[in-house]
Amino acid sequence: MEEIKNYALINHIPIVRDRTACYLVNECSKLNPKKILEIGTAIGYSGLLMLNSCKGSLLTIEKDEKRVLEANKNFSKYNMSKRVCIKCGDALDELMVLYNDNQKFDFIFLDGPKGQYIKYFPILKKLLNKNGVLFADNVLMNGLVNNIDNVTHKNRAMVRNMKKFNTEILNDSEFKSTLYDLDDGFIVAEKIK
Ligand SMILES: C[S@@+](CC[C@H](N)C(=O)[O-])C[C@H]1O[C@@H](n2cnc3c(N)ncnc32)[C@H](O)[C@@H]1O
Repeated sequence: MEEIKNYALINHIPIVRDRTACYLVNECSKLNPKKILEIGTAIGYSGLLMLNSCKGSLLTIEKDEKRVLEANKNFSKYNMSKRVCIKCGDALDELMVLYNDNQKFDFIFLDGPKGQYIKYFPILKKLLNKNGVLFADNVLMNGLVNNIDNVTHKNRAMVRNMKKFNTEILNDSEFKSTLYDLDDGFIVAEKIK
């Protein structure tokens, strides 16, 4: 796994940070989900962490074809290919396919485009089983979410969307959610209804 991490660092591929990864692994092993959904595969680093911490299967979505190839190689290298299905495409399109197919998941790792979390949330709610967990990474966006006045015009809509997502999930009565101010910020939300 260190090898994959170094490859990601050298090639400027963003992957889950160390402390967040510890919480991710911990949540995943506690729940031992049968089915995991991930938005944002990159090269499979977080996918492998989750697969190593439970016995379930992983459906992971990534739009970048080159990264999908790398992820496939990594899953195969660690003998995980049989437990993984990678969908190469835009997350919203792929999520709609899963929704229309009435698919359900026990654990969702949301780590895709940051401005889209708010758009994905209603669909993810439907895809998550009761007692399942939604783990959303980068929800503080390097502190920008709490400092919107200093955000450049170009990034303002993205940061506002993330702030809306945080408010919505933290106040949703179907979820028991905690926001962790560690690394780039993450929310662990258990679906209680
Ligand atoms: C932070 S990285 C994921 C890191 C990975 N979860 C890990 O920790 O190893 C986010 C990924 O989402 C992908 N992505 C961005 N926009 C997307 C979209 N609209 N649909 C699917 N994937 C997208 C990017 O190409 C990138 O690889």
